[in-house]
Amino acid sequence: MLRTFTSVRANPLAFLASAQQQYGDLVAFPVPGPPVLLVNDPADVRQVLQTGARHWDKQTVQYAALAQVTGPGLIASDDPSWIEHRRIAAPAFHHRRLDDATEQVRAATRVTTAAWARLPAQGATVDVAEVAMQIALDVVGRTLFSADLSARAQDLLDATSAAAKLIVALGRSIVPVPDWLPTPMKLRLRAAGRELDALSHELIDRRREVSTDSHGNDLLGLLLDGGLSDREIRDELVTMVVAGHETVAAALAWTLMLLAEDQPAQDRLRAEVSDHGGPVSMVGAAESLPWTRAVIDESLRLFPPAWVVSRRSSQPDLIGEQQVPAGTTAIISPWLLHRRPESWPHPDEFRPERFLHTGTRARSDYLPFGLGPRLCIGREFALGEMAIVLSELLAHHRVSTPGGWSRPRPQAHVAVHPRGGMPLRVTPCTAASSLIDPGPVRSP
Ligand code: HEM
Repeated sequence: MLRTFTSVRANPLAFLASAQQQYGDLVAFPVPGPPVLLVNDPADVRQVLQTGARHWDKQTVQYAALAQVTGPGLIASDDPSWIEHRRIAAPAFHHRRLDDATEQVRAATRVTTAAWARLPAQGATVDVAEVAMQIALDVVGRTLFSADLSARAQDLLDATSAAAKLIVALGRSIVPVPDWLPTPMKLRLRAAGRELDALSHELIDRRREVSTDSHGNDLLGLLLDGGLSDREIRDELVTMVVAGHETVAAALAWTLMLLAEDQPAQDRLRAEVSDHGGPVSMVGAAESLPWTRAVIDESLRLFPPAWVVSRRSSQPDLIGEQQVPAGTTAIISPWLLHRRPESWPHPDEFRPERFLHTGTRARSDYLPFGLGPRLCIGREFALGEMAIVLSELLAHHRVSTPGGWSRPRPQAHVAVHPRGGMPLRVTPCTAASSLIDPGPVRSP
């Protein structure tokens, strides 16, 4: 464990993969105290996240670190009030609200398509990871704070991103730092926390000034009308910003890379969107654009932004054939599960066809959005957002790999990002080039 200590910090994805390859689907890390297990068998994963979810809580190092930024918001909270907060926030993700968000996502993407319209005919190399981050942040701002799309909402988004980065950096510092020691990083984090408090309260006060009766049906309005304290509202706002933009941005960057590497798949997506006729909507994009949806599902399989989730048992349980005591930590990695050859033939290959007729539901070997009662509340939102952004970006532009291409390495942050960005060639589509025959469909 000590020998691998540095490599865990340098490349946790490679470390988890090598632990699984060497020791199998249930690995106990040799650490003092209650067991810390890597759980990679789909049946065991279901036990921890779904069947036995009542006694596998979120009191883990991962969520304690996140709570330093988000407080006990929806993701990090383990309190029974979590279910009440989820109920209050849920209408923000209902179909009717998602339909309203369609235009906001399109508007956020239009900023980029307008810039791309000015590219020279031979195209240019663009960091699509940066583009995806701008779009995803803009979407979160427009949909969560709608009327408050002011400089302050943008400041809140920026401060939250900065604080999340500090948390990751803190978690990676080589020497564990005692809680009481005021290191420069901790002081910066505390300052970021104070800024987040001030910004959220400003947004809350502004919305209260506009109306004293109902506060609107976006997330901020729902939280205000739901009887939460200002502190609780602040925690939920920051939670949604953290959960809602880095994940989507990373997923979009990897999807664009996979499509740049597979031109027939990209042409098929473009043809499907063009055949669809009208604009793509957040709701129903899966049914009306099955290929686009299969591309997104397959991209989330190969590059799941949420690369690890963790739980702690509050009572003894049986994992596989192992009796585990209360206090056991279970580490579950969608990154590993999605590459199990038992579940996924040719696991490292991009084959959207595998999802075309099967869908993704009820599988415990595919969990980009988690499983069980703590399933991602933003799942439909994220899937719809990705379908719209891809359809808009690729309608009139082609992405391809630049000369001397090698894939950026995945870097495990809050989400898995392409290290050093994702530079792709973006070229305007001529009518002829967008009608290339996608060729025969490969079998899964
Ligand atoms: C591709 C994009 C996304 C991915 C891959 C993703 C992934 C996940 C995963 C794996 C979980 C479960 C964590 C666990 O069980 O410990 C989760 C929970 C959550 N996600 Fe997402 N998410 C995405 C987008 C979003 C969006 C757009 C929002 C909101 C705007 C959001 C808000 C949340 C919240 C609030 C939770 C906690 C739910 C609860 O515990 O009740 N996510 N997400």
